[in-house]
Amino acid sequence: MATKISQPSGVTSSTPAAEGGLPLPRRLRRLRRSATVRSLARETRLSPDMFIYPLFVCEGDGVRREVSSMPGVFQLSVDEAVGEAAAARADGVPGVLLFGLPGQKDSIGSSAYDPEAPVQRAVRAIKQAIPECLVITDVCLCEYTSHGHCGILRGEEIVNDATVEQLVRTALSHASAGADIVAPSDMMDGRVGAIRTALDTRGYEQVAIMSYAAKYCSAFYGPFREAAESAPAFGDRRTHQMDPANSEEALREVELDIEEGADIVMVKPALTYLDVIWRVKTEFGYPTAAYHVSGEYAMLKAAARNGWIDEPRAMMETLTAIRRAGADIVITYYAREAARALA
Ligand code: PBG
Repeated sequence: MATKISQPSGVTSSTPAAEGGLPLPRRLRRLRRSATVRSLARETRLSPDMFIYPLFVCEGDGVRREVSSMPGVFQLSVDEAVGEAAAARADGVPGVLLFGLPGQKDSIGSSAYDPEAPVQRAVRAIKQAIPECLVITDVCLCEYTSHGHCGILRGEEIVNDATVEQLVRTALSHASAGADIVAPSDMMDGRVGAIRTALDTRGYEQVAIMSYAAKYCSAFYGPFREAAESAPAFGDRRTHQMDPANSEEALREVELDIEEGADIVMVKPALTYLDVIWRVKTEFGYPTAAYHVSGEYAMLKAAARNGWIDEPRAMMETLTAIRRAGADIVITYYAREAARALA
């Protein structure tokens, strides 16, 4: 009888199964009885050394300007960025991902490869003050172009190969400043291979590439564009970033980036693409990063500020889910908070 199987756990039959009575329930609750046994049986663990902390670096000195849609996240001048990187290290976070807010923008994003621009200066300053801090730089043009698009425009179209040349210049300038890893986030075709070749032929063969391999055209980048002042002046990013409906295509993107020389592949955003993280990790077995993006962070912050969710628990549950899906590396604005919570 089916009712025997579905009896509430803890209710046992008076006649043991061995004597032909009701079957005894499988008692999965045994491993949930105490914090100690739950910890022993835990399948997924978080640790601060898998987090990367994004920083927005701007011009000036002593600047620390909070981003209104991202409480706890600031536009920082180089000196402040060094302090923030040191604080992250003290919390156990191994490294930072740098984004730049240049003093001036033009149609081809030339300040992206200016050796005196905020990112290049921040790389040098952080590596000098904290040599062991892993410094990763975001390589894209959208923060540097006057029109806010990720590349060079012909009419309203982003020209792929001319853009790749600008990305190569940018990656080389980050490498020459001392970046450990460059992270192209533009989604142009062929940029990983072009950057790898340029790095190798200029003596930067030890600089790694973390490619934003499966980067979706997502509504969750909204707060970032306020932080990085990089919203497109017209149109959107649908002609280069991926359609949220696709995952087979994500595997093709990842495969290509690996073939072209990516050392780490990234899926972005994280929560709405947990299935993609899982597929990428299981199909390729490559070091896999997931970016818990600005909008994902902002949603939690907003709900917490309204008293609608328990923020520390929601943060940990979110990061655990990203890890459980297969991410080895989690890029998150919560890096410091989560690292402290884990300590
Ligand atoms: C592009 C870039 C973006 C993000 C990281 N790199 C924005 C975009 O594609 O418009 C978004 C990160 C986030 O939302 O936290 N340089």
